[in-house]
Amino acid sequence: MNTLRIPAFILTTLGLISLVSLSGCTREFPSDKPPVHLNPNMDNQPKYKAQSKSHFFADSAAMRPPVTGTVARGQLHDDNIYYTGSVKDSQYIDKNPMTLDMPLLKRGRERYDIHCSPCHSRLGDGRGIIVSRGYISPPSFHDDRLRQMPDGKIFDLLSNGIRNMSSYRAQVKPEDRWAMVAYIRALQRSQNARLEDIPPEIREKVKP
Ligand code: HEC
Repeated sequence: MNTLRIPAFILTTLGLISLVSLSGCTREFPSDKPPVHLNPNMDNQPKYKAQSKSHFFADSAAMRPPVTGTVARGQLHDDNIYYTGSVKDSQYIDKNPMTLDMPLLKRGRERYDIHCSPCHSRLGDGRGIIVSRGYISPPSFHDDRLRQMPDGKIFDLLSNGIRNMSSYRAQVKPEDRWAMVAYIRALQRSQNARLEDIPPEIREKVKP
């Protein structure tokens, strides 16, 4: 029995010592002195923070402008037609550069319903809910002027905004803007559809 009690006593003492020493690391004993940093590991080193002042550079700003001609990765945007909707200076392209298929139209519909329908309505007639509460009424997409507008121009005006309509460049990426242009075209077709536009096999089911 005695031989067993000694290790138990030693273990209890060791346990108590470690508890006491560990409690020194807790926040229960605040100190005015800076903590002892045994291994600095390059944690503290001179550096500039964003927007801070510099005594070194002539313009006193720590942040440096990028070297002229620098292009951030993925932001070259050299495809003018895709990113602006025009060949150059307002020479708008007639046709959407994207492949027109159902996934594109579905995406366009989803984005249109989120971003545009509050004003333009889901039908595109310009009678959205915001307009019913007093906002300026946008023109209907089914006006001849807008039906004849080139795809590139619609892309441009929803990228940059027009008069009372703000720009959507920041909220909507280019491929989604093109998807919305495609969906606006589908809306325009839907409001001006002829019986011949319907596939023959389901034409009978539709009442003229
Ligand atoms: C906050 C309301 C509002 C939202 C949201 C909105 N628009 Fe408009 N939109 C307007 C108004 C108002 C006009 C008329 C601008 C003017 O002539 O002053 C307009 C005009 C337009 C025109 C016609 C421009 C012309 O030449 O007459 C198009 C096309 C258009 N918007 C597309 C869109 C698309 C696409 C979206 C979604 C990305 C959108 N709008 C979102 C309010 C809105």
